[in-house]
Amino acid sequence: MWLEVNYPDVFGGTWSTAPDPVDLHSFTGIDATSGSTQNAYRTKDGKPINLVRMNGKDIATFERGDAFDRDDLARIDPAPTIGIVSGLYELFPDNTTVRRSLEGLAAAIPPKGYLVYTGQPWHPQLEMIGRALTSHRRGQAWIMRRRTQAEMDQLVAAAGFRKIAQRIDEWGIFTVSLAERLSP
Ligand SMILES: C[S@@+](CC[C@H](N)C(=O)[O-])C[C@H]1O[C@@H](n2cnc3c(N)ncnc32)[C@H](O)[C@@H]1O
Repeated sequence: MWLEVNYPDVFGGTWSTAPDPVDLHSFTGIDATSGSTQNAYRTKDGKPINLVRMNGKDIATFERGDAFDRDDLARIDPAPTIGIVSGLYELFPDNTTVRRSLEGLAAAIPPKGYLVYTGQPWHPQLEMIGRALTSHRRGQAWIMRRRTQAEMDQLVAAAGFRKIAQRIDEWGIFTVSLAERLSP
């Protein structure tokens, strides 16, 4: 939020130009009020909800799964030629779980497929986030796990990928990297 407010040219000022609806009875089409059984993945009769249409065809849907369950990831069908893991590993301190997740992605993505992954070498608001947010780890403080880029890259390499490219913001807080799946 601090970055968005102080650098609107970089972050687009989306808070003021596209605010979320305040009435959750139709949150992007879904009844998201308390007690609703609707979700963003399936219609009421269980059909997948389309996300993207290209040349008249529905080409993308959400599937729910556990990103740290190796076999759950390995089973993705059809096999993805691009996997994206964004903003996730930074939330979890333990490399054993990250390895399991990357092994699942390596099993799902065929050779020459791509993996896009994010990194967060440091963060200026660690304490504020740790004190304010608790949601994803059963009430524990949300202390971001910073990984050096080398650590993140080694985890990805150990799973069977070759790093090709990387981008980083001017403060060095966030990175986005691209890697190619090698033949097992
Ligand atoms: C910081 S957000 C990043 C959101 C988005 N991927 C992005 O890059 O903007 C972390 C996301 O990880 C999801 N998440 C946490 N644990 C997960 C798990 N075990 N399996 C799948 N998703 C998980 C959360 O629901 C949340 O949406």
